[in-house]
Amino acid sequence: MLADTYASEIAAILSRYPIKKSAVLPLCYIAQDEYGYLNIDHIQEVADILDMPYTDVYEVATFYSLIYDQPVGKWVLQVCDDNPCCFTGAEELVADLEQRLGIQAGETTPDGLFTLQRVKCIGACHRAPVMQANLEFLYDVTPDQVPGMLEDLAQKVQRGETLSVSGRFAEK
Ligand code: FES
Repeated sequence: MLADTYASEIAAILSRYPIKKSAVLPLCYIAQDEYGYLNIDHIQEVADILDMPYTDVYEVATFYSLIYDQPVGKWVLQVCDDNPCCFTGAEELVADLEQRLGIQAGETTPDGLFTLQRVKCIGACHRAPVMQANLEFLYDVTPDQVPGMLEDLAQKVQRGETLSVSGRFAEK
């Protein structure tokens, strides 16, 4: 149970807010990192910790593109295909990733390492084309950088580095 496994982290998060429900996103991130995605039971667990109605947590969890309703890979590769990124090669980038990973956007590789997704503007248009691996931004990405980038990410998993599909450790 999250309340036991993450007791000290949850207590630290709750101490930052005047009311419990303000901590709904950080707790969803913890739940997602624990379970890999959020289903009905996981959302209920967060709701119970925060004394919130299930539907309130559900509304938040289903609004954000960084909260997943089904299992994803260790690395979620999100390629921005909004206008500025499209004009600078996002489509070629998506096509290259699909070909190298052997999946279509929206799918996960059979080894569970990578999920590929298209997303809309992630706020770094001046460095287009842009993608993010979990919450780590990768700027000015061209297809020739893709093999090295995938290898780099795979090695992080092999080394057992702590990963967060929610970007929970991005600020640390
Ligand atoms: S359009 Fe791609 S980051 Fe804004």
